[in-house]
Amino acid sequence: MVSAIEAIGETPLVELGRITRGLHGRILAKLEMLNPGFSKKDRIARQIIQDAEAEGLLAPGQTVVELTSGNTGTGLAIVCGIKGYPFVAVMSRGNSMERARMMSALGAEVVLVDQCAGSRPGQVSGEDLKRVEEETQRVVAERHAFRADQFRLQGNFRAHYLHTGPEILRQSKGDLQAFCDFVGTGGTFAGCAAAFKAHDPSIRCYIVEPEGAAVLAGEPLAHPGHRIQGGGYAMRNLPLLRPEHIDGHLKVSDEEAVAAARRLAKAEGIFAGFSSGANLAAALQLIRGSFRGKTVAITICDSGLKYLSTDLWP
Ligand SMILES: Cc1ncc(COP(=O)(O)O)c(C=O)c1O
Repeated sequence: MVSAIEAIGETPLVELGRITRGLHGRILAKLEMLNPGFSKKDRIARQIIQDAEAEGLLAPGQTVVELTSGNTGTGLAIVCGIKGYPFVAVMSRGNSMERARMMSALGAEVVLVDQCAGSRPGQVSGEDLKRVEEETQRVVAERHAFRADQFRLQGNFRAHYLHTGPEILRQSKGDLQAFCDFVGTGGTFAGCAAAFKAHDPSIRCYIVEPEGAAVLAGEPLAHPGHRIQGGGYAMRNLPLLRPEHIDGHLKVSDEEAVAAARRLAKAEGIFAGFSSGANLAAALQLIRGSFRGKTVAITICDSGLKYLSTDLWP
């Protein structure tokens, strides 16, 4: 390999056989925390930059800017650092500070945006995110930068359509009946679901949202300050999602996500974050329900190391 960029992807798919012992059904977990930046968002960083280069949207040495909860920024810091593009990450102070420090270590300039009055650290609300978006737009204009817009650019979808989804199909030998994913931008869900359905339209794909913020399921926003970092932003319109790929919606509470992340660490030796816990909790709902006896795939979105400053690990 000529750089760490080539070390992105081709992560292992592991059966969670200890957690599902006594249950009927299998859960296969894609260990995305083993990417160089310790999250699945390395994949989209690589794809967005490659696509922008191929389309002539990014000039040599041009600054790249993106709004991030930390993981996309870490991926972009790695890819931009290797390729020689200055990178500015704009992030809410509500996200854990490990992320900002890691991006800085990788050479990124990190702009931290204060949370709204009433918001709590560790709980980034849709309102907080609006502020981060405004600041991102300001920095893009000021620096004449390329915006690696993860909510809109097809590179986010394509990273998972071309790689994550096909890898899961190959590694599971196509023995897969359902997929569920906690949605931030929806890129992972959209790309994997499209790949799965192109291969076998009977594979069912479920969106996972925080309880009380399940707006994609059509519910009112009752609990914007949930703790599942990396998604659940209560945005009703996610440009990358395609309605025809959504077979249903699942909800996970903060407590369920935390308990599942802790179990993943203790029982399976997989050290991951809140959203991976949410994915596991949702997959357990499926095999305890209508997918009894079936196989469900999930992504392990990022590393538990990114949450050492939170109360995920008491
Ligand atoms: C930890 C974590 N989990 C889940 C997600 C959601 O993934 P996606 O944006 O592909 O929906 C993200 C996205 O940033 C994330 O950082």
